[in-house]
Amino acid sequence: MRVVTLRINGDEREIAVRDHWTLLEALRYELGLTGSKQGCDKGDCGACTVLVDGEPTLACVTLAVLAEGREITTIEGLAPRHRASGGEGADPLQEAFDRCGALQCGFCQPGTLLSARALLDRTPRPDREAIRAALAGNLCRCTGYTQILEAIELAAGEAAGVEVPTPEWMADLRRAEGTSRP
Ligand code: FES
Ligand code: FES
Repeated sequence: MRVVTLRINGDEREIAVRDHWTLLEALRYELGLTGSKQGCDKGDCGACTVLVDGEPTLACVTLAVLAEGREITTIEGLAPRHRASGGEGADPLQEAFDRCGALQCGFCQPGTLLSARALLDRTPRPDREAIRAALAGNLCRCTGYTQILEAIELAAGEAAGVEVPTPEWMADLRRAEGTSRP
């Protein structure tokens, strides 16, 4: 075992890890940060995605010892990060996923949200191809992806103060519910 200091969601956490432990194992089983999901555990599905120095990183194939000194953001830190920068409530991407119904079982959502946040941080108004490319490593077995793409476009458009066209399915839902809630 060796003691490492990890900077996670703005806090310094000191833990003892074995050299072969992954960052995902350290997060989930030593620090109790279970928002990062353990899916394939071999780099294929993206469910374990966290941000390391702002870059989407697969925690299941990253050694915990190599993350020392880096800035790590997990899904637990996304809303606090937004509030620390002057926002209110959850990250706008989380709100947009909720409003667009961009999830079913939710297993992929932490990783997808973090990949999307990294994209919007470096490219505030990505086109749909850029969104698809940024999310290429985040697999979702439930949604069919359309509402995920729409949610990211919605968050990006609103951040830029641009009116985002209402998806046809959402317009139908509003009519059915007799509501103007976006
Ligand atoms: S759990 Fe890491 S890529 Fe699937
Ligand atoms: S919502 Fe179930 S895997 Fe994406």
